[in-house]
Amino acid sequence: MSPRTAFIAGALAFAVGAAGLAGALIHLGGRGGGQTAAQASAVGGPFEMVDQTGATVTDADVKGKPFLVFFGFTHCPDVCPTALYEITQAFEALGPDAEKTQALFVTVDPERDTPEAMKAYLSSFSPRIRGLTGSRPQVDAMVKAYRAYAKKQPLKDGDYTMDHTAIVYLMDRNGAFVAPLNLKRTPQEIAAEIRPYV
Ligand code: NI
Repeated sequence: MSPRTAFIAGALAFAVGAAGLAGALIHLGGRGGGQTAAQASAVGGPFEMVDQTGATVTDADVKGKPFLVFFGFTHCPDVCPTALYEITQAFEALGPDAEKTQALFVTVDPERDTPEAMKAYLSSFSPRIRGLTGSRPQVDAMVKAYRAYAKKQPLKDGDYTMDHTAIVYLMDRNGAFVAPLNLKRTPQEIAAEIRPYV
């Protein structure tokens, strides 16, 4: 496959998977997951966002340590809080090594997820989880860079929810995509997968 074809195939696989499962966790079968190197290298890249303290965060700021990236939104009824809880437990299992990593919880709903809303929401989880929000163009650019999917879904009462990719991306210290992190394991098993990259 040409790099462009590989990119399109990868983007489609992510988008179709996210749409088909509509909020369910997507499992790609562990490390590698049958991905080509071209697809892996196409995930991630530059971003500029705002964290829950109002500080600007860029890809350059998080390099030097491995990190997790997870897209979601604070009004999410179950998938997001469950994943954040599982990440919190994995970081506890990492012990002192948790200081050498962090997770980025990136909202796909910046209209409601202000830095203040993110700060309040994340207070229930590991302090190693940083909440990223920003303008709609900033968020859209990061969603695109990670080949993720997010779509507003209107509800009958005039409210709305968000469909979104539920992959947890394990990124190495250079900001390169390693693999989707499967959270449906024990915290110790998840920690063991992260530890070699710290
Ligand atoms: Ni969610």
